[in-house]
Amino acid sequence: MDYKHTNSSLAGRIDRLRREKNAVILAHYYQAADIQDVADYTGDSLALAQWAAKTDAEIIVVCGVHFMGETAKILSPWKRVFVPDLGAGCSLADSCPADEFGRFVRRYPDHTVISYVNTTAAVKALTDVVVTSTNARQIVESFPFGTKIVFGPDENLGKYINGLTGRNMVLWSGACHVHEQFSLERILGLKGEYPDALVLAHPECKSAVLRVADFVGSTSALLRFAGGFVGGRFIVATEPGILHRMRRENPGGEFIPAPPLDSTCACNECSFMKLNTLDKLLLCLESESPEIVLPEDVRRRAERPIRRMLEISERLGL
Ligand code: 13P
Ligand code: SF4
Repeated sequence: MDYKHTNSSLAGRIDRLRREKNAVILAHYYQAADIQDVADYTGDSLALAQWAAKTDAEIIVVCGVHFMGETAKILSPWKRVFVPDLGAGCSLADSCPADEFGRFVRRYPDHTVISYVNTTAAVKALTDVVVTSTNARQIVESFPFGTKIVFGPDENLGKYINGLTGRNMVLWSGACHVHEQFSLERILGLKGEYPDALVLAHPECKSAVLRVADFVGSTSALLRFAGGFVGGRFIVATEPGILHRMRRENPGGEFIPAPPLDSTCACNECSFMKLNTLDKLLLCLESESPEIVLPEDVRRRAERPIRRMLEISERLGL
């Protein structure tokens, strides 16, 4: 934990409560810097699931979005799981309602269903195996070539994986409002201004953006790539919360957030992620709310494909 960027009295009270209540605070890389700094662990969505599955803490506070809290609860049902602001949804998960997805997969009864972790528990319950952007390629490739696959909900990620693997997965047409926003023209404009800059992109971006990227990867892969260069200039096409960690791992580097289509808004920020604040985190620990609660039958059906993902990831050393 690093208090450097935090409000120290809030951070101190959070730390005291965390110890008293045997709570662990998990934060995604898109969280505000002060939340990342008080968290026990900061990671990508795969790492958050892995920590939630193995922690000894009695309480898990997930500073991320709702599906990340659900994933923690699914894996640790006997623990209490909180998200500081339960309104922290995800436009990608919202683009895939479970009833519609159920009708969609029933049209392909001989297909394996692979779902991105950015989905509700009800969608995971309809799924054979879950993936994150860190392991999607390897998990798809773990099925023999020729396996018929339905993939949802992120169409950009699905197209990207189809291109990498030569598969022809049937894709659900969902998208993330943040990653859809990046402007190819404005990225190319920045490249003109800084020809040495490397473009880093998350695979939820549109294929036109991915085509001009020097490196495409999950949040943890982007961090590793940027940390591997001492100094260097980077144009980063993912949620700018990640710049906090990038700057820490590569203090001499220059990180430029990729601009959105609309130059008058901050629409490259995930408004859902930013609903969590340090004050709400403190309140959440004090009041032990708001809590993630799931119907047990849905939780049980959603657990199987997540455990399958964790097993394959472990086998592959991811
Ligand atoms: P990662 O799995 O790369 O952390 O991404 C999660 C996410 O929500 C991307 O928008
Ligand atoms: Fe969901 Fe997009 Fe926010 Fe990630 S950045 S949590 S995919 S809305």
